[in-house]
Amino acid sequence: MMSWQGARVRLRPINPEDWELFHDNDGDMEAARACDLIYFPRSEEGTRQWAEKKAEEEPEGDSVALVIETLDGELVGSLNAHHCDPRGGSFQYGIALFRPHWRKGYSSEAVLLLLRYFFHELRYEKATAHVYGFNEASIKFQESLGFQLEGRLREQMFTNGRRHDELIYGMLRREFDVLYPSR
Ligand SMILES: CC(C)(COP(=O)(O)OP(=O)(O)OC[C@H]1O[C@@H](n2cnc3c(N)ncnc32)[C@H](O)[C@@H]1OP(=O)(O)O)[C@@H](O)C(=O)NCCC(=O)NCCS
Repeated sequence: MMSWQGARVRLRPINPEDWELFHDNDGDMEAARACDLIYFPRSEEGTRQWAEKKAEEEPEGDSVALVIETLDGELVGSLNAHHCDPRGGSFQYGIALFRPHWRKGYSSEAVLLLLRYFFHELRYEKATAHVYGFNEASIKFQESLGFQLEGRLREQMFTNGRRHDELIYGMLRREFDVLYPSR
């Protein structure tokens, strides 16, 4: 497996011309709620500027924002690593696939590419994902990858008129190595 490419997808930086698909995806409010928050609507120009800024951004430590594309170059979603703590050896990741591409195995492959890089190239020892308690798809997704439920922050966030728990899923490097031995 090449570092940034698997059998179905590759990870690459955001390009300014990616703005349009992100703009379309901004209309998926359920996905926005599941990932993060529902924001005010953004103009086309606003999304263009956002993509341009992202494309120019210098990396900050090991934090990175990448897009996921199929091997024939179709943009299908995005993935990021954040709260990277090289001294403690832990980082968090977030992922969002555009709805038409759900359940094709793209996210699984993308996350495994990211985990392998962080564990085997950057010496990280632990990855976590924070998942809202109502996000059944992501709960099943983390569990399908082998992440374990480690904690529940009760009523941590507010959306859709009420408070919701935030679940913390984690995977250790040694668990990753057993589940996904290098070829
Ligand atoms: C969660 C999400 C990233 C999953 O992406 P995906 O590309 O559809 O995931 P995969 O195809 O790799 O799925 C792998 C496995 O996860 C589980 N899974 C994924 N989506 C699921 C769903 N909606 N319901 C039940 N299980 C699901 C299944 O076990 C699946 O394997 P299977 O399809 O062979 O049954 C995607 O639904 C998404 O982007 N949702 C909106 C944003 C979001 O919630 N991001 C995560 C925030 S924490």
